[in-house]
Amino acid sequence: MTRKRLLVANWKMNLTRDAASSLAGELRGAASGLRSSEIWIAPSFGALSIAGEEPPSSPLKFGAQNVHWAESGAFTGEVSVPMLRELGASFAIVGHSERRHVFGESDDLVIKRALGASKLGIDVIFCIGERLEERNLGRTHEVLERQLEGLFGEPPKGVIIAYEPVWAIGTGKVASESEISDAHSFVADLWTRRTGAEPPQILYGGSVTPENFASIAALPKVSGGLIGGASLKASSMQALIEISEKLG
Ligand code: PGA
Repeated sequence: MTRKRLLVANWKMNLTRDAASSLAGELRGAASGLRSSEIWIAPSFGALSIAGEEPPSSPLKFGAQNVHWAESGAFTGEVSVPMLRELGASFAIVGHSERRHVFGESDDLVIKRALGASKLGIDVIFCIGERLEERNLGRTHEVLERQLEGLFGEPPKGVIIAYEPVWAIGTGKVASESEISDAHSFVADLWTRRTGAEPPQILYGGSVTPENFASIAALPKVSGGLIGGASLKASSMQALIEISEKLG
């Protein structure tokens, strides 16, 4: 079965509810009748309720930018899978580099989130990626393996990996095609070696724009993109969708 290319919009801590609702409306139009692409959107928690207002025929899927592993409990500031599902979310991003490096989420904590949330029935987009100093020291593969390690024992059903080199996120410095191919092939081979299963879809993220997406999306082990800055404007998302559809 060939899977559709995934374009995942990570809106981060941007767009109040009204702005999120109107951008989603524009994207709904752009996303209807797509043959080879799927559009997933991760608004802020506050704006996620727009998911519940989508018409049943909407091609858009909505998700959260983080999720807790437990169903409920004394976890101030956290949100659980049942709460997300109630809002209409069907996936959650876990381990984004801003969570890891700005908010200090450890490899273990991120793994706990991914395994727990997946067991509670939500699709997980699991982010991994090396920092510039790690790449410069030739430690990229080691870092990616360490971040993935906790998934190999019991790989979460339906997990999607997002390879996002930390130095490429929000910097305008996109990874080169050979850096992306190398990381994606490493992750895919490692996954098969460690789990005996087919590798999951692997998205690339980090300064994706309409200018660079055609060559990135055409790389053999790239299943789509996790898009930050360029996902905040209808015009650039539309351009990315057109590129994806042209690639087929
Ligand atoms: P960016 O963000 O496209 O703005 O680099 C990507 C991400 O953080 O997922």
